[in-house]
Parts: sequence; C-alpha cells; structure tokens
Amino acid sequence: MPQTADAPGADLERREGTDKVLGSARYAAEHTPEGCAYAWPVAATVARGEVRTVDDAAALALPGVVSVLHHRNAPRLAEPDDATLAVLQDARVPHRGWYVALVVADTLEAAREGAATVRVTYAEEPFDVTLRAEHPDAYVPEDSDGTSGEHVRGDAEAAFAAAPVRVDTGYRVPPLHNHPMEPHAATAHWQDGHLRVYDSSQGATTVRDTLAGLFGLRKEQVTVVSEHVGGGFGSKGTPRPHVVLAAMAARATGRPVKLALPRRQLPAVVGHRAPTLHRVRLGAGTDGTLTSVIHEVSAHTSRIKEFMETGAAATRVMYPSPHARTTHRAVPLDVPSPSWMRAPGEAPGMYALESAMDELAQALDIDPVELRLRNDTRHEPDSGKPFSSRHLAECLREGARRFGWAGRDPRPRTRREGPLLVGSGVAAATYPVVVAPSRASVQACPDGTFVVRINATDIGTGARTVLVPVAADALGVPVERVRTEIGSSDLPSAPLAGGSSGTASWGWAVHEACTALAGRLAEQRGQQLPPEGVSATADTAGRADADSDYARHAFGAHFAEVTVDTVSGEVRVRRLLGVYAAGRILNSRTARSQFVGAMTMGLGMALMEHSTMDGAFGDFAETDLASYHVPVHADVPSIEAHWIEEDDPHLNPMGSKGIGEIGIVGTAAAIGNAVHHATGVRLRELPLTPDRVL
Ligand code: MOS
Repeated sequence: MPQTADAPGADLERREGTDKVLGSARYAAEHTPEGCAYAWPVAATVARGEVRTVDDAAALALPGVVSVLHHRNAPRLAEPDDATLAVLQDARVPHRGWYVALVVADTLEAAREGAATVRVTYAEEPFDVTLRAEHPDAYVPEDSDGTSGEHVRGDAEAAFAAAPVRVDTGYRVPPLHNHPMEPHAATAHWQDGHLRVYDSSQGATTVRDTLAGLFGLRKEQVTVVSEHVGGGFGSKGTPRPHVVLAAMAARATGRPVKLALPRRQLPAVVGHRAPTLHRVRLGAGTDGTLTSVIHEVSAHTSRIKEFMETGAAATRVMYPSPHARTTHRAVPLDVPSPSWMRAPGEAPGMYALESAMDELAQALDIDPVELRLRNDTRHEPDSGKPFSSRHLAECLREGARRFGWAGRDPRPRTRREGPLLVGSGVAAATYPVVVAPSRASVQACPDGTFVVRINATDIGTGARTVLVPVAADALGVPVERVRTEIGSSDLPSAPLAGGSSGTASWGWAVHEACTALAGRLAEQRGQQLPPEGVSATADTAGRADADSDYARHAFGAHFAEVTVDTVSGEVRVRRLLGVYAAGRILNSRTARSQFVGAMTMGLGMALMEHSTMDGAFGDFAETDLASYHVPVHADVPSIEAHWIEEDDPHLNPMGSKGIGEIGIVGTAAAIGNAVHHATGVRLRELPLTPDRVL
C-alpha cells in the first residue's frame, strides 16, 4: 500500500527547528533567574545502611558555599507516593548513589568543590545486588491493571511436553540506561509563596502536582515549565529527585537554585531498564502451529519502589496458542530503582520471544517469516478480544519484499566475504495503544490566526508540530494560521509524553476543542471577533480512558543484515529495515525520526549498550558515555522505516496509534537472528560484543 504524505501538514517541518539551530530554544538549565545559586548533590558511597554523620565544616568554609543540606537540616516534605522522591528526609541509604547531602553555592564550581569536601560516615549493612531467578525474595507482582503478573491459559506445561517440536531456551538482557542527551536539570524559584520551576521532564503537570503535594501547596501555587526537553526515554516520565532538591534548596536559601545532574549520577537516580532473565518454551506442531507458549521473566527491583520490567506482556499479544503461561517475577535487591526505558517490557521481552521464534523456525525448517504468518490471528490471544486492527502479516510481507528476503539461503554460515560472515534476520514488533485523558483550549484571534494551548511536552518528538495539522484539520484552516503553545503546567492539563501515548491523548483534546470552536465560529459567520477572540476548550476524561471492546496494538516487522568479522568478532549492521502498522501517520518527517531513532536504540541494545551491577560496590560500573556505549553515526550505515496505511475507527478522532517505542521492540532480536544466520552460533545474552561473538 502506498504511503500517504499528501494530506495538509503531513510533512510539516518542526516549528521549533530554527530556535533549536540558533540556540534560542531554552532548556531547563538555561534559565538563570537574578541571584541564582547552584547546587551539587553528594551521593552515598555504600550500597545499604544509614548515615551516621555528615561533616560539612570544610564545605561551609569554602568561599561561595551558601548552605549544605542533609537529612538533619533539610526542609521536611510530605510523604511522597514515590519513595525515590523522599530525599534528605532520613538517614536511610537504600542503594549506592542515593543522595545524602546537597551543597548550594554562588557558583557551580564552588558547589562542586564543596560537595567533594563533605565527609559522610555510614553504618554499613550487608547488601545483595545479584539478580537470580531462584532468589528467595522473588514474587509475582501485580500488573499495572491490578491483575496477577502470571497469566495462564489451558495447561501449558503438559502441552509443551506433548508438542512434537519444542524449543526450551533462556535469554539475558543486562541493565540499560536511558542517558538522554540533556541530563536531568531543574531551576527553582520561590516568589511570594509561588514556586516556579524549569524542569527537564516528560510531563510538567505531574511534576507540578507532585511538588504541590510534597511542599504542602495548592496546585495554583506551582508552575512547572518544560518548554524544550532533550530526550528522556522514560527517565523523565516521573518527577525525579533533582527537581525536589532544587525546590528544597531554593526554599532553604531564599534564592533561585539551579541543579543540573552530572551524567555520572544519572544511573543511580533517574531509573534504568532492569536486567531481565527469560526462560521461553515454545511447543509446536510440525506445520509450525504453536500449541504451547511459556514465557517467564525475572527482573530486579529496588527495596523502596516496586517496578517490574514486564517482559512477558508482549507475549500475551503476539501469537495464538491454546495453552500458554506468562509469568513476571520481581526480585527486590539493594539496587537503584528501575523504571521506564523506551518500550519497558516489550523491548527485552520481544528480544526473547522473537529470538525463540527464530530458534523454532530453525527446528522446524520453516522460513521465519512464514512461521510468523502461520501463527497470525485476528484475536488477542490473552483476552480473546478482536484486534481493532492488526496488520502484522502485511508488515512482514512488505518488509520481506523491500528487504529482498526472497531467495535467502536459510542455512546458517553460508555467506562469506573474505573474513566476514554475512547473515540476515527478521523479528516482529508490537506495542500497545495507550491513551489518557487530556484538556486543551483553542483561541481564534481577530487577525485570523489560532492558538492551541495544551501542556503537551516536546521531548524531541515534534509534539508542537504534529498537533498543528490536527487543529487545522478540525478548524478547516491552513496550517500556517495555527500556532501551538505547550510545555507549561499553567496551560490546560495534559498527560505525559510517554507510553507512545502523547500524540493520541493530546490530539484527541485538540481535535475536540477545535471542532467546538469551528462550530461556534460558523454560528457567528461574518461577525467581527472581539479583541480577545473566541475560545473553546475540551476535556476527554471519561472517553479517552474508556474501556474498549477491541484489543488495540501497533505491529511491525524488522529486518536486519549483519556482517560478523571472524578475526575481530565485531558485528556490524549493514541494513536495518522496519515496516510498521500504527494507524494513521500524522507527520511523515517526525514519524520517520521516531522509528529510525528507536531502531538505532535497538541497534545499541543488540550490539553495545550494557551496564554491569558491580557486586563489590553494589552499583553500576558504567555510568558515563565513555564506558556505556551508544551507537554513533559510523555504527548506523542504513536504516529504513516504512509504514502501512491503517484505517482503524476504534482509536481516536485522528485514527493514530503510538509510534515512539515500537521501533526498538523487535530490532535487537532481528539483529541477533541475523548474527545466528551469519555464524551458525546462537548467542542468548545481550549485547553481542566481540568477546562474546569470538
Ligand atoms: Mo516512554 S519509556 O513511555 O517515555
């Protein structure tokens, strides 16, 4: 099917593009109110225990140091729902890197020097940071909908035992770090009882509500601005300690305070993708039809905040089988709290499932594209609900055609180019359609332009751009006459940029506000607008969050071609191609950027990104970009993203599904499967670094 890029605004350039290129787009740490002080945190150097003493005399003696906050003198906060935000409230150290003090000074340099001189002593306790599936504290956590993290259909063990063809295998994914280009930062300023904060966040409404709760304020007393955000990948989806510390320091010192976290501190305090251990068992008939699917996932969580990396969630969506069991197990350890990282659950989960599908295809001697086609379905396996739309088969076929899959010799280790082994692999992808209630307003100005106002967040996705054609379409005016104001909690409340839900959630409210305004303007046809113009608002609560009779998910297919150097063990990706079915694509430029960006992140997950939980220190060993490697341009020769036009009436007024995360979901498996095809060796632990490949 052809891609449609002919609708008005369907390839609109980023509205803030020029500002970003000129450097006039300001980020959280680029606001410096009059009299601004600077803060630098002191992180715990033990993995578990209590703070005994904090000696701040040397720090306070330094020129420029204004204050040293710690648990004995810091302002008291109301107890947060999120325990990671209870900073400097008590002596407890739940993990290494937990903040135990904060130095505030006239300059950044003085704050940093001061932090280096603070002496903290601890009562240390034994700690445990090693993930193992059979840990005595492991338990099955509830899923986010309150149901058990274990889903059972039929008798999966018996069906597996009886299956003519079986795959029983395990995979490991290491801890991964979000590392957005812009580290977390906040500038906080109290003025006459009003707290104004510039924060690097994926959702300023939540940050406002959280700060109001912690500091005992009404929501109207807090403004949180997140106008431009340099990425987050989930780590900015919830408020983080830095914003609480900045507001606390500003209150304690009576000055505006800026706190920009050094990158090396991010892994301990902004969340990470928890390491996962997978056991996957697939039973099938000789024709490839699945008869049993068992996927068990263990992941660590911290002692203070439960977070499950829901690696089996996508397995409940993908392939039908009369017998299935999917089980999540959380293992609480003395580790930093894990959290969302791009496609939490789906990314590691589909690495495991789609690698196992490749192993099954090999065991059956069936082409891996064909195996997936034979296990396609119109109903969601777990819920039995019909899919609102599912074009996985079309993605696989279109991807195979574009990639040139036909004629591939299925035998491993058959393509050689000098010292290089060459192989290709495929994997499927899925991501749920998430949507949340939002408000929006729109104003018709007397000069004929329109201003849409909504606290959406642009984390690099193009949020302020993609909403323009949604508004213009509903208003029936050209895109040039529409402007969007986003990125402040003073604007109509909106959900975060996360869960690939932003555009659908915000767009729905924008569509409704604009439709209402268009109706009002039609009634007033020909009349001069008053100086303040005419406005309309919308709130999609009760509708955007309503249950559906349909299972709603985006699908995709990933194809990879790799070379494996038999001398160095280096894997290089030659080609990466994705085809997606994600409803209506609202902006081809920004959508392609999302898909290609996520596939690049999947390439990193496959080949280089990994963190090591150091058993001696109880902390991550790789905390900066010199040791935690992410793909650079030279690692990414050719990435293609395509999509299939989907017309799905069961989603939202735009007919869109989310696109921010699905691109990472099957990429690592496609690359791993290509490495197997190239070498004949099945590697089951990421990343596929030369030491493992050789
Ligand atoms: Mo994303 S991990 O939902 O910000």
